[in-house]
Amino acid sequence: MHAPNVEISRDAEALAAAAAELVIRAARDAIEKRGRFTLVLAGGSTPERTYSLLTGPERLPAVDWSKVFFFFGDERFVPPGDPASNYGMAQRSLLSRLPNAAARVYRIPTEEATSAESAAAYSGALGRYFEQAPDSTPAPQFDLVLLGLGDDGHTASLFPGKPAVRVADRWVTSSPPGVLPPPVDRVTMTYPLLNAARHVVFLVAGEKKAIVVKEILKENPGRDKYPAAGIVPAAGSLTWLLDEAAASRLTRR
Ligand code: 6PG
Repeated sequence: MHAPNVEISRDAEALAAAAAELVIRAARDAIEKRGRFTLVLAGGSTPERTYSLLTGPERLPAVDWSKVFFFFGDERFVPPGDPASNYGMAQRSLLSRLPNAAARVYRIPTEEATSAESAAAYSGALGRYFEQAPDSTPAPQFDLVLLGLGDDGHTASLFPGKPAVRVADRWVTSSPPGVLPPPVDRVTMTYPLLNAARHVVFLVAGEKKAIVVKEILKENPGRDKYPAAGIVPAAGSLTWLLDEAAASRLTRR
């Protein structure tokens, strides 16, 4: 992989617009080249505005949404209607606003009895979608993976010091809660799957993330300290979309 591409937007609103434009470009390119676009959505709060902007009157017609397939990088182990559900956030801000999207949405099934069973069920669903054995190597290549960054350096639900960071033989795994809210079990894609993607994009806003952003981009902290540092696409590209607050320690002398 080449050095990551870092793009800095003025504020969170400009960051969301830049991210929406990036998604549109990636979607058009993938649909032109391969006839479909496989998009892994991030949870948390930062991407919500990006998702809403994608369905605005000028952007909605820019993509043939009937060829877009939606997946989730991680999920909180709560029902889909729970306010903490990553699927719920994406459903409200994006998916429910697209015509007939439901059949193309692959959410992490939190109805299973345990988060481990949910993870296994999601690997199975991905295997059926990509027509390969679940958890096999090489992992399928998503066209675009969107990720967030926690103040503790986590991404998806790969939390510092937790076993999910070590999982190398599965595409999806369960994880106990990290230190940040909400304190519920998680289900998360693993490094082998995330790093197989054609393009991975971090969306990061706010001063609280500035120290971690600087360490990851300048100091090579390693994934044990900051799991987000382990996102190194094997053959794909990596982009960090930051707002000025999140980038403030990169640019400061
Ligand atoms: C989750 C996530 C998580 C998130 C970061 C950043 O389920 O919480 O997917 O990895 O992306 O914690 O979250 P914010 O965007 O809310 O800061």
